[in-house]
Amino acid sequence: MKPKLVRTVAALRRETAQWRRDGLRYAVVPTMGAIHSGHTQLVTEGLNRANRVITTIFVNPRQFAAHEDLGKYPRDEDGDVRKLGKAGTHLIFLPPPHEIYGEGFSTTVSLAGPAKAGLEDKFRPQFFDGVTTIVAKLFIQTGADYAMFGEKDYQQLKVVTRMAQDLDLPIEVVGVPTVREEDGLAKSSRNVYLSKIERQQATAIYRNLQAAADKIRAGIIPQNAMRAATRSLMAQGFKVDYVTARNAETLAIPKHPGEPLRLIAAAWLGKTRLIDNLAV
Ligand code: PAF
Repeated sequence: MKPKLVRTVAALRRETAQWRRDGLRYAVVPTMGAIHSGHTQLVTEGLNRANRVITTIFVNPRQFAAHEDLGKYPRDEDGDVRKLGKAGTHLIFLPPPHEIYGEGFSTTVSLAGPAKAGLEDKFRPQFFDGVTTIVAKLFIQTGADYAMFGEKDYQQLKVVTRMAQDLDLPIEVVGVPTVREEDGLAKSSRNVYLSKIERQQATAIYRNLQAAADKIRAGIIPQNAMRAATRSLMAQGFKVDYVTARNAETLAIPKHPGEPLRLIAAAWLGKTRLIDNLAV
């Protein structure tokens, strides 16, 4: 199926207004393009819940710092449209930057709580204000019933869920389990930056999180299990930003035995930053 492409909010709203008149429910899958099977899985899960799926493709400048990879972020509109069509997306919203951030744009949506957990926010201080501002706009522009987010960006999932709750946005944020390569590496648009050798080394993040989860289940104190995982990754050439166990809902540092935990990691391999996480 060839999805319909729209580039303006007005055109997007014409399509969704018709869906509403037809009594259809629809999901949105926000992306920055460079579509891979992690994204198409979000489309599949959207189709499981709703009659229609919109995928948005917008490389959001506000979530990149000046030194980050905005300029070289992978872009392939034709390839993305093909893959999304194959996955069953009905509509693709591909706005140009001025459609999203018109002249005089002055609003920032900014959260505390999970957005200030000392994880991504510590290393990318501009990131969540950029994400929540664009995601709030996409929720309002699409008016979707469901929003599909990968668990791979776990802090982002929790931040966006909190935002929708706090602002009473009439949308259900749905977390979808991480899609992995056969060797366990989490699918990511940034994996294309890895050299052949780095690609082989990259699986160590997932393996170390698994080992830490096993230890915690066996009764080892989470902090000790995470320290061992950090040391192991550093010994394998990673520059670790964080490898930590957090409360799975609030992302706070765990205080009580038996709390639901999420093990969360971010580390550099050469010039590529990898993130991953695992439930315990
Ligand atoms: O996860 C992403 O690709 C982006 O952060 C998102 C949610 C599309 C917002 O730009």
